[in-house]
Amino acid sequence: MSQFDILNHGHEHRFVKGNPSNLNSIFGSTELIPFWIADMDFKVAEPITKELQRLVNRGIYAYEFNSNAIFQAIKDWNLKRHQLKLNSKSFLQITGVLTGIALLIRELSNEGDGVIIQTPVYHQFYKIIQTANREVVRNPLKIVDGRYVMDFEDLKQKLQMEKTKILLLCNPHNPVGRVWNKVELKKLSQFASAYNITIISDEIHSDIIYSKATFNSIVSFNNKHIAILGSPAKTFGMHSISNGFLYIPHERVFSKINATIDSMYLDHGNVFSTFATIAAYTKGEKWVNELVEYLEKSIDWITNFVQNEIPQVKVFIPEGTYQIWLDFSKLNLPNEALNDLVFSKSKLALTPGMWFDKDHSQFMRMNIATPLSQLKDALSKLKIAIDESI
Ligand SMILES: Cc1ncc(COP(=O)(O)O)c(C=O)c1O
Repeated sequence: MSQFDILNHGHEHRFVKGNPSNLNSIFGSTELIPFWIADMDFKVAEPITKELQRLVNRGIYAYEFNSNAIFQAIKDWNLKRHQLKLNSKSFLQITGVLTGIALLIRELSNEGDGVIIQTPVYHQFYKIIQTANREVVRNPLKIVDGRYVMDFEDLKQKLQMEKTKILLLCNPHNPVGRVWNKVELKKLSQFASAYNITIISDEIHSDIIYSKATFNSIVSFNNKHIAILGSPAKTFGMHSISNGFLYIPHERVFSKINATIDSMYLDHGNVFSTFATIAAYTKGEKWVNELVEYLEKSIDWITNFVQNEIPQVKVFIPEGTYQIWLDFSKLNLPNEALNDLVFSKSKLALTPGMWFDKDHSQFMRMNIATPLSQLKDALSKLKIAIDESI
């Protein structure tokens, strides 16, 4: 029995994912098993809990800033895990990854400028761009031999548009699960240099990488680009207790962003987040390795089950992230009927594909960071509903 086999909470908790009013407003019922938000059902690694307990027992919350210790921990982690050499002087702390992206877009472009995203993509990217009064420029991903790849021809056209200033990259990609390889990243970086575009790379999922892929950061290719190295949120299940971290190798850009963050006091952090982050990166490796192994076994089970029992559904096997992207288009159902099948009949709260791109009504995303028993139960329900519908 694995520690990840235990479902630690029922539906009485106040997490956003299982909150009845959220379920009701999005999925039309309160009685669904939630697989929509990209967080984890697992208890965090023991060293994180111990560190948080130490702070509570201390009972003193005087001002305490330790960002250099966090940057060192992230730097050591990335060197060991991804052979990624980083410079301590290029880090900045921010309250969260989305805050970081929102700030960078405002600092590095003007109202009316275009920001490229590779669709279908994490739905908050649209909001971040639009609420900054910038324009979403789509560079849709292509499916070649059953696998998502970048469309460089289309990208070239989009980069040539005068208003385009930024490419917001998602690496690993949420929701399609690609971990962009060196050839793709190098090409992307060369294109961006040729057209004088900054790549902002959201790398929040970079530690959940399965055996067939290797993670590379965009900052290895060109120092003009910026990595949102992310945060320990996705890696260690610290979604509500983590800050975000920017990595800006270019000195002039670093100074500009640093000045804004400083002027708004966005880098103070919080002592729980600080020490939990340090504990996670310095003592959490074994836990993450076990987690990735567990998730990969779950993916194998899901892939086999879907291919054998519900072949009408296509699974895009992820190279990274704990999201599974499912294509229901072979069922040939109108959008309403597909929602009825998944939400009402199977009672599964999967994330609708339309959240990631308006043309993806036949797709859904499933979060698999939950015990395998719960995934088995969910997919069995889906199979029964599909069998009954045909
Ligand atoms: C690609 C991506 N970026 C950012 C976030 C959220 O980051 P934060 O909570 O630190 O703002 C998520 C969460 O799902 C994500 O998938």
